[in-house]
Amino acid sequence: MIKYGVILIPFMIVFIQADIKNGEAVHQANCVTCHSTNMTGGLGKDFNLVSYTRRKKDIIQYAKDPYSLYKKFGYSANAMPTLPLTDQEFEDVGDYIDSLQPFKKWMKR
Ligand code: HEC
Repeated sequence: MIKYGVILIPFMIVFIQADIKNGEAVHQANCVTCHSTNMTGGLGKDFNLVSYTRRKKDIIQYAKDPYSLYKKFGYSANAMPTLPLTDQEFEDVGDYIDSLQPFKKWMKR
C-alpha cells in the first residue's frame, strides 16, 4: 500500500497544480477586469481578500451564481454578472483563488 502512495502522490500534486494554473488563466480571461490579485482594486474585491475570508466551496458557488448568494455574502445589491463558464473552469478558478492565501480568517478563529 505504501508503495502505491509513493507513486500516486506526485501525480496528485501535478494535477492540483494544473488546476491552479488553469484557474489562473480563467481568472485572467474572465475576472481580472473586476477582481485584481495585486491589491490594485476594481469593481469586485481583490481575490487575496476573498481567499482570506471565504471557503473554497463558497467562492465557487458565488462565481457560478452570484445572484443567489449576494445577500448571504453581505451585499445589498448584485453587480457581478453570471458568467458562462464550464463547471471545470469554475472549480479551477476556485482552486486558484483558494491557493492565494493559505491562512484563512475562519481557520484562525
Ligand atoms: C463585471 C465585473 C465582474 C466580473 C467580470 C467578475 N466579478 Fe466577481 N464580483 C463583482 C462584484 C461587483 C462583486 C460584489 C458582489 C456583487 O455585486 O455580486 C463580486 C463578488 C465576487 C465574489 C464574492 C466576494 C466576497 O468575498 O465577498 C466572488 C467569489 C467573485 N466575485 C468571484 C468572481 C470570479 C471567480 C470571477 C471570474 C470567473 C468574477 N468574480 C468576475 C464583479 C465582477
